[in-house]
Amino acid sequence: MSIIIEETHSSAPIGVFDSGVGGLTVAREIMRNLPDERIVYFGDTARVPYGSKSQETVIRYSKQIVRFLQTQHVKAIVIACNTASALALDAIEGELDIPILGVLRPGAKVAAETTKNKRVGVIATESTIRSGMYGRYIKAHDPEITVYGKACPLFVPLVEEGWLKDPVTEEVARRYLKELLEKNIDSLILGCTHYPLIRSLMRKIVGDKVQLVNPAYETALELGRLLTREGLANDGGTDCAGEKYQFFVSDAAEKFAEFANSILPYDVKKTRKINIEEYGA
Ligand code: DGL
Repeated sequence: MSIIIEETHSSAPIGVFDSGVGGLTVAREIMRNLPDERIVYFGDTARVPYGSKSQETVIRYSKQIVRFLQTQHVKAIVIACNTASALALDAIEGELDIPILGVLRPGAKVAAETTKNKRVGVIATESTIRSGMYGRYIKAHDPEITVYGKACPLFVPLVEEGWLKDPVTEEVARRYLKELLEKNIDSLILGCTHYPLIRSLMRKIVGDKVQLVNPAYETALELGRLLTREGLANDGGTDCAGEKYQFFVSDAAEKFAEFANSILPYDVKKTRKINIEEYGA
């Protein structure tokens, strides 16, 4: 079945989705780097985490969310979730007639271009690591690069607990990163939405010889290039109908708003809860 969008114009919003709150790190980079763009964000807070789920399930969830975002007449979609980008982008891309961007390719590209010793580490959820997609994208740029992946499932709950600088989080990070550092990597991709929030802790552990790649930031820059290329960039001159940033979730709207307000450069006043299961099988 092909999914059809009714109208596309430069003042329409960007649809951004994630399994929950983590994708706000991507929304934050879009707000900072593309301040004229409007955003409709969807966080699948009822079904988070995606990082331990099967590809089949993540594709089904992602397709439902894309259908919802299309009802909001978005001009482009960003899959802010690394896991959904790894497992579902290929399945969705062909069905859409608007641009869609995942967070893996932009992060992989920068890591491939900047590594000097051709040894790149990737930390992410179990499903992202198992997919091997970061490695595939990196090797598409340079087949000589060796990619070392490490699943770090404890980081997501620790970040959501707000333990960003806690000694417990530091100890967990030291254990996870030990084997990657022993591989003598010179670049480390923060391949999960939550990890940029513990970037300073990572820096403390890896030292300044390892480059930290933040796919959220690289995706915002890539989105800017893509919108310009497609003639879809909002020049700010058009009168925007409605709120600039809109937030939708599948559960626990208040908890979402609390987290959003702790990390966004913008005060989230309203978060709407929707039934995402209504958007197709
Ligand atoms: N958003 C997910 C990611 O970037 C992390 C949380 C989850 O497992 O759903 O992979």
